[in-house]
Amino acid sequence: MSGGADTRAGGTRSEGAQGAGPQGGGARSGSAAPPLLEVRDLRKHFPVRGGILNRTVAWVKAVDDVDLHVRPGEVLGIVGESGCGKSTTARLLMHLIRADAGRVTFDGALVQADDAAGLREVRRQMQMVFQDSYSSLNPRLPIEETIMFGPKVHGVSAGAARERARELFTLVGLDPAQFIRRYPHELSGGQRQRVNIARALALEPRLLILDEAVSALDKSVEAQVLNLLLALRRELGLTYVFISHDLNVVQYMSDRVLVMYLGKVVEIGPTADIYERMQHPYTEALLSAMPSMDPDRRTERPPLTGDPPNPINPPPGCRFHTRCRFADDVCRRAEPRLAPVQGAGGGTGGDGRGGRDGGNDRNGGNGRNDTGGSHLVACHMRAVGSGHGLAPG
Ligand SMILES: Nc1ncnc2c1ncn2[C@@H]1O[C@H](COP(=O)(O)OP(=O)(O)O)[C@@H](O)[C@H]1O
Ligand code: SF4
Ligand SMILES: [Mg+2]
Repeated sequence: MSGGADTRAGGTRSEGAQGAGPQGGGARSGSAAPPLLEVRDLRKHFPVRGGILNRTVAWVKAVDDVDLHVRPGEVLGIVGESGCGKSTTARLLMHLIRADAGRVTFDGALVQADDAAGLREVRRQMQMVFQDSYSSLNPRLPIEETIMFGPKVHGVSAGAARERARELFTLVGLDPAQFIRRYPHELSGGQRQRVNIARALALEPRLLILDEAVSALDKSVEAQVLNLLLALRRELGLTYVFISHDLNVVQYMSDRVLVMYLGKVVEIGPTADIYERMQHPYTEALLSAMPSMDPDRRTERPPLTGDPPNPINPPPGCRFHTRCRFADDVCRRAEPRLAPVQGAGGGTGGDGRGGRDGGNDRNGGNGRNDTGGSHLVACHMRAVGSGHGLAPG
């Protein structure tokens, strides 16, 4: 993974390079803590083959020069429409697929794609939970055996692995006496997802990547699993990358939120900044489509119209310009860079405004960490001197 050149060194300002601000009291994570996971210029383009010679005729730009970081104990939410590159980003972070370019640093050490032992250790410390609750469970094995598998591969004796499996069942709210001998098909979706969380925790990872992990569950079960995840984060000091297309769920779970559009990060910042002081027209449009239970929170913002353009052939300049009501000439010509939001306390110096979102009761369950994140946006309309007719200054 380290093979990709840092082609923009000294150029585009990195999200991960932003300083972060004063830390909220009592938070485990914060500005002082170096990132647990940091990614620079991550890229994955899938070839599209065609013709009788099966030649590469185009590239799907699934993930295109993405920068992000996650601090210890933090929940970083990732949102965006289907096909914007969320799952590809997750698989790249897990090293399940090889990146075309980019640098991934875990706990301060560069992850090298050709260092098998190093990769094995990173894969132990980072685990993933998928939307499909069957995908990580062997249908022919009692679930206890599936949970024991990881520790046994890592040299733990069968007896100790069985003991660990029982502890994990209890931890995720499943009575071991009742559940350990069951097969995956004998469980409900919510129970299966609890087993998947137990499986992910079996090797005592530090970071979980949750890719639409609750999206297939009924709302009431979804809430229980989300609260279990938040409790586990508190008790075990875990760090999460939480991916979902559901903006309510991401708001409930996340300390910071990253918004993706067609393989690009278009906005990132503390949850309150993204949901209440969003700067990118795409974020605004996404949020306008978000159902709110609170009539005061319903806005007059225009909803998002039209399908996203094809990532095989993304538009030049700003990829959102074909759907943006503020598009100007510069938007069709030049790609906007991710830059601090002007005039925001958390922007230029990265002093982290509003990391806690105490005013929003929907966020009460998170026990939100003030991770002191900066609010960054990639939009010409928000950049001084960009040439956009509505730009400040
Ligand atoms: N293995 C693959 N080969 C070709 N294209 C892929 C592959 N995986 C994903 N893609 C494409 O990459 C884009 C991003 O996909 P994905 O990361 O799954 O998006 P999301 O999770 O946000 O819905 C989509 O256009 C998808 O069709
Ligand atoms: S750069 Fe231009 S097209 Fe893109 S979001 Fe901003 S105003 Fe809209
Ligand atoms: Mg996906």
